[in-house]
Amino acid sequence: MGNRTSKPEAEVATHDVLIFGTGLAGLRAAVEIARKSNDSINVALVSKVQIQRPHSVCAEGGSAAVLREEDGDNLDLHAWDTVKGSDFLADQDVVDRFVELAPKELMLLEHWGMPWSRRPDGRVMQRPFGGHSYPRCTMAADKTGFFEVQTLYDTLMQYRNFARYDEFFATSILAKNNEFCGITGIDMATGRFMVLRAKAMIIASGGLGTLYGFTTYSQTVSGDGQALAYRAGLNLEDPEFLQFHPTGLVPSGILMTEACRGEGGYLRNSQGTRLMETYAPKQMELAPRDIVSRSEMTEILEGRGFEGPNGLDYVHLDLTHLGAKRINSALPLIREVCIKFIGLDPIEKPIPVRPVAHYSMGGIEADINGATAMRGVWAAGEVACCSLHGANRLGSNSTTECVVWGGITGEEVVKYMKSNPPLAEVPQDAVKAEQKRIYEDLLGGNGKENQYEIKKELRDLMDRHAGVYRTGPEMAEGLRKIKVLKERYKNISIADKGNVYNTNLINALEIENLIDLAEVLLTAALAREESRGGHSRRDFPTRDDDKWLKHTLAAYGAGGPALSYKPVTISKWKPVERKY
Ligand code: FUM
Repeated sequence: MGNRTSKPEAEVATHDVLIFGTGLAGLRAAVEIARKSNDSINVALVSKVQIQRPHSVCAEGGSAAVLREEDGDNLDLHAWDTVKGSDFLADQDVVDRFVELAPKELMLLEHWGMPWSRRPDGRVMQRPFGGHSYPRCTMAADKTGFFEVQTLYDTLMQYRNFARYDEFFATSILAKNNEFCGITGIDMATGRFMVLRAKAMIIASGGLGTLYGFTTYSQTVSGDGQALAYRAGLNLEDPEFLQFHPTGLVPSGILMTEACRGEGGYLRNSQGTRLMETYAPKQMELAPRDIVSRSEMTEILEGRGFEGPNGLDYVHLDLTHLGAKRINSALPLIREVCIKFIGLDPIEKPIPVRPVAHYSMGGIEADINGATAMRGVWAAGEVACCSLHGANRLGSNSTTECVVWGGITGEEVVKYMKSNPPLAEVPQDAVKAEQKRIYEDLLGGNGKENQYEIKKELRDLMDRHAGVYRTGPEMAEGLRKIKVLKERYKNISIADKGNVYNTNLINALEIENLIDLAEVLLTAALAREESRGGHSRRDFPTRDDDKWLKHTLAAYGAGGPALSYKPVTISKWKPVERKY
């Protein structure tokens, strides 16, 4: 444990543009800025991890796009699948733009060296994925995100005009009169407190999955972008729609990619029956995720699951009939993970799985160009809500969304920079307040509460009170507990008082972000008295388009979020009953 002798002075660095988060969306935006500006715009890449190690590397199954019109796929079909999958909450103009740009983006990746899996005829391989009526999931075995990140990183290395802030933890967004000025943050290796000034920023910091205990996310994913934007006055849109992926490995939660089912895997209950026969007899295991997750939970709750550790009862994901050759070529990571983590070879035995927190459909409110309500700030990828996914995202639309809106926001920022915007003055009072909050209130605190206990309780309660199925009383109780945790958080103490890699301090800042986001999620979920997509209420079991065909907006308030609503853009397709 180190000793910090005094509050560090803020060190200031100035760039043209900040990119906060360097996963697929952030890297794609950086490449777009560099290539569209001939490398004339100075970009700071800000990442809480090392720049090549974002959570996007964990994306497994693939990226959806229409590449085979001659074989029967088309843009309207992709759009319809996405709208129907969203339970009609997606904005249809946004969906149209997405499906149109998706093939172009995957072709760009191809030209930049992406090692897609190939068919025997040498063409790029695509496979089936849930809710898609054509096999349009474009893949690099089951390590697609890893290769996409490396491809974008390698492409970026052709350019020079960027600075790296690896292992930099952003703590606040600075704005004056709703105009972006910069961010504050901590350089984790040295403990330096910094102000990064810029004229524009793209927030691309990913999801919020460690809000849940049983999750597919890396432990680094703590909703920092959403929380900072929310506290800076930006709305969070549709936060109640949290996706549960049907196949999290028990007991760790590691993603067993939907590609397992795309390649032909079965879901079986404890009686050996393919359970989706009851719930989606046409699409079976390839129904959308909200439906498959509810089906599994129903089987488990009705006693047709297997008893698992710590209440993690499960069903079986059976790949044994696929054979060693197919598993080794199409799902090598899945096999490796099963062997390493639970000592089970999926060539021989079915895999224990259950629904797992996987993706946030909601995020920072952004328009079709990724622009937020703050001048100079855009958002792209999972952190944003451009309203592409509505109430339920289709698998493999997310990595594509990241590259599509990385590209769009990068281009928008280049246009913005051409307008020669001023570098706004940094509000010194906000910087001082942030220093005081971190170094005096938080680091200087000597309370009795243990932050790690609070984090565990928060994640447990989200698992229990905001899961696949929800009820009003359960969520109200969850919200009450969150408010208690919020009070207890004020009384934590941070054991490490030092500068270098103070992970106690970073963890405490992450918990604060998670608590705010948990409160937003549950407040919005409690208010939405219907069931739609990933938000499934036992006490309001049907979709109610008359009252609830609208987006939730949550604005920061000291006593908790204030909710308002805005309409959904419906162009081609009126909502109909959703059957698979
Ligand atoms: O199952 C998966 O490979 C996840 C893909 C996705 O979330 O799009």
